[in-house]
Amino acid sequence: MCGIVGYIGDRQATEICLAGLKRLEYRGYDSAGIAIVRDGELEVMKVVGKLAGLAEALEENPLEGTLGIGHTRWATHGKPSKVNSHPHTSMDGRIALVHNGIIENYAELRDQLESEGFEFVSQTDTEVIVHLVDKYYEGDLAAAFRRAVKDLHGAFALGIVSADHPDQMIAARRFSPLVLGIGEGENFIVSDMGAVREWTDQVYVIDDDEMAVITRDSIELTDLEGNPIEREPYTIPWPADAAQKGGHKHFMHKEIHEQPRAMRECLLGRLGAPEKSINLEGLNLTEDEIRGLRKVVFTACGTAYHAGLVGRFLMEKLARIPAECDLAAELRARDPVVLDNTLAIIVSQSGETADTLVALREFKEKGAKVISVVNVVDSSIARESDGVVYIQAGPEIGVASTKAYTLQILTISLIAAHFADVRGAASEHELIELRRAMLGLPEQAQILLDREEDVKRVAARFFESPNALYLGRGVNLPSAMEGALKLKEISYIHAEGYSAGEMKHGPIALVEPSLFTVAIAIKGDVYDKMIGNIQEIKARSGPVIGVAFDGDTEIPRQADEVLWVPESPEMITPITVAIPLQILAYHIADMLDREIDQPRNLAKTVTVE
Ligand code: F6R
Repeated sequence: MCGIVGYIGDRQATEICLAGLKRLEYRGYDSAGIAIVRDGELEVMKVVGKLAGLAEALEENPLEGTLGIGHTRWATHGKPSKVNSHPHTSMDGRIALVHNGIIENYAELRDQLESEGFEFVSQTDTEVIVHLVDKYYEGDLAAAFRRAVKDLHGAFALGIVSADHPDQMIAARRFSPLVLGIGEGENFIVSDMGAVREWTDQVYVIDDDEMAVITRDSIELTDLEGNPIEREPYTIPWPADAAQKGGHKHFMHKEIHEQPRAMRECLLGRLGAPEKSINLEGLNLTEDEIRGLRKVVFTACGTAYHAGLVGRFLMEKLARIPAECDLAAELRARDPVVLDNTLAIIVSQSGETADTLVALREFKEKGAKVISVVNVVDSSIARESDGVVYIQAGPEIGVASTKAYTLQILTISLIAAHFADVRGAASEHELIELRRAMLGLPEQAQILLDREEDVKRVAARFFESPNALYLGRGVNLPSAMEGALKLKEISYIHAEGYSAGEMKHGPIALVEPSLFTVAIAIKGDVYDKMIGNIQEIKARSGPVIGVAFDGDTEIPRQADEVLWVPESPEMITPITVAIPLQILAYHIADMLDREIDQPRNLAKTVTVE
């Protein structure tokens, strides 16, 4: 959500903060601000809108100094405005604070502070924190900060600087991610490793209820009682330029094109040959535990939820284990019954999505074993799970998830195939064919990318349509839902992803010439039924884009356009089908001149419930 970058060293803090925030801009971008400490003074600059506005303002009025904190905001409490943007300052303007998260008891804290004479200028929950620090401040910033943090309920990643302490910045976290970059003669606070990789690959990942006092040459980690904590630095596994566009117009485009390589990396060391069994380091489940499973429950949000829906299908069809898939935000309300030997599989790109993290904790409390399928290494979800299988997609910056989605499905397919093998739920022949097909996926993904121009031509035909319907069945129902989500989030075209079987129970009323339908009609169990659905739409003058296997002769006769995918076992087609649908959404959005990497109202990592 919000991005945080703090710097202490010898370089100009504004330059570092702006460059770091640029890498985090995808997390939230309705306002931005920075506070710099220099010569015993604190100077603050804030703007409404994107980071570029802050950069321009700083060009006109440079703030010089080698200690500073910056922030990009995604509004929760209080609309985007200059006063609501961070950093927030104490009444005397000598302490500045940035925050990511939500303070749940802010209303009562605010009432208390107001009764004690503190004046508030914003509508945010964050402002209470800086006044609390000010209230407790008696010359020791770390002591005041520690006391203030103890009064807070909710989620926070915090960074604080003070005009009275030009050699110090302080950070703390609970539930919201926070990382400290370790430099030489300089150190960093960032809300995401990607923001600091340009300057160092050594970081400390901060845990809940830990804080750090950071100088140019030292980082002192403690708990909230002040007890020292020893921690080994973590080495960021990707190269310094991984978070750059590399010649692509948008990160989303780059990430779509990274899929063949990412798939190869995901398979590496896990699946060597079709005849060999799958090796999943980190899964942390014995063969006896796998054989004893009575149920698997996938839980996730958004795109990751769609990957979980595919997972549900694979667990039942392939591994023959009863499976469910829940929206993380709905799970707690349902107070789910967790039977013995239930495995919860949590799916998350960021590993920090608040709703998903809450669902994970709910499962653990109820006694389920929890494994996660995560991209960001050492993220909260990864750390709190009993086992973790990383999808190995590398940094995903575009707000619309692409490579993480296909890699989530690939990883889940590996898990399901492994379970099927251990439980004897599929024949050796079936497993060999599936594993062979999985090994062929990077090549198939490349073939699909090489067809980009064909998909772009289809996009040019439909980009002005106000509405779209995506239909699928069986394992490709989630593909329809994901295709529609991709289109709506980056193009703002209203799109519905629906079960083709459900169409005549309602959505068919929408069909007319200005609504285009994407019908996923690859050969398999549901093919004939999909042809019937296409005919129903055509009979009502609705244009249809079919998604079909190479060489299909029927779909081109029925549909107005066809997006072709190479043939593979039906169970893993959600991986290949996703790629032309990503490309279609991308080009439609590009033709509409949308801000593809930063769609309105969205943030990459949703760290609030
Ligand atoms: C859509 C998208 C979101 C995320 C969702 C979960 O393109 O990216 O729907 O999938 O916010 O995020 P993670 O996977 O980080 O838990």
